[in-house]
Amino acid sequence: MSAVMVVHGGAWAIPHDLAEASVDGVKVAACEGFSVLQRGGSALDAVEAAVRALEDNTVFDAGHGAVLNADGEVELDAIIMDGRTLASGAVSSVNNIANPVSLARAVMEKTAHVLLTSRGANLFAESIGMATVPGDTLVTENERKAWRKNKNFATEVMEDFNCQWAHDTVGAVAVDSAGNVACATSTGGIRNKMVGRVGDSSIIGAGGYADNLIGAVSCTGHGESILKVTLARLILSHIEQGKSLADASQLSLQYMGDRVRGAGGAIAVSPSGQWAATFTTERMAWSAVDHDGLWYGLDPNERLKEQLSQ
Ligand code: GLY
Repeated sequence: MSAVMVVHGGAWAIPHDLAEASVDGVKVAACEGFSVLQRGGSALDAVEAAVRALEDNTVFDAGHGAVLNADGEVELDAIIMDGRTLASGAVSSVNNIANPVSLARAVMEKTAHVLLTSRGANLFAESIGMATVPGDTLVTENERKAWRKNKNFATEVMEDFNCQWAHDTVGAVAVDSAGNVACATSTGGIRNKMVGRVGDSSIIGAGGYADNLIGAVSCTGHGESILKVTLARLILSHIEQGKSLADASQLSLQYMGDRVRGAGGAIAVSPSGQWAATFTTERMAWSAVDHDGLWYGLDPNERLKEQLSQ
């Protein structure tokens, strides 16, 4: 069984000036996750490592570089899920954790719960000695500027997610050499969202899902739409019924567009090592590493390949 790592840096109308950095960022994160798999790490370890790399990169809307809510604050959501046992952990509305994906993993491994929110999540982080950072240190100058400029447009983006203003989410899926799958998703959500708004990214079955019997999916796009169609689980249901990963993803995203007018994207892997990266927004930065090499793309139908550097 050969290991596979796939990551995305968010499905939205990525502007030209962010294109190269977005593609570079997803390639680095995919390689980071894949190196964990090569060293014998689990799919769970690999998705956490890849998402941490994306959270640390200010180009993406997660961790450092996250977008700001209506009050100009960071509120972060994340999920991680282990396809071996269906164990999952998630956090929502946390504001002083640089890598929410690792806090989500701690929720999964150290509590009897699946999702902790805001103050409770922060208290839990404190109780396990996880380092906290002042929320402001996660905010980039660009995001502060975008927040000031677009303060009054929150309603419009809810109706037109596929615009340059939207920004969105990072995620990873992996299958390890034992055939175990896992997913992780992390986000700052949507610019100028209401305080306390939680999107799809921390919600099991919506922003992500992983089951060794079917595969693993991480979603990106308009959170309210993804929640309404439980996108990750919908994609896996189509796979369960015999569709290929690419067809299942395309069909489900199309359904989300037709039924609730939502745009987005998804990455998927199967336990046998098939994978797909699909989106209905203008662009989505994605990258995959499999036995053949390093794959990546940004525009629709773009699928480029490089040899993996050793
Ligand atoms: N997809 C991320 C969000 O809507 O919050």
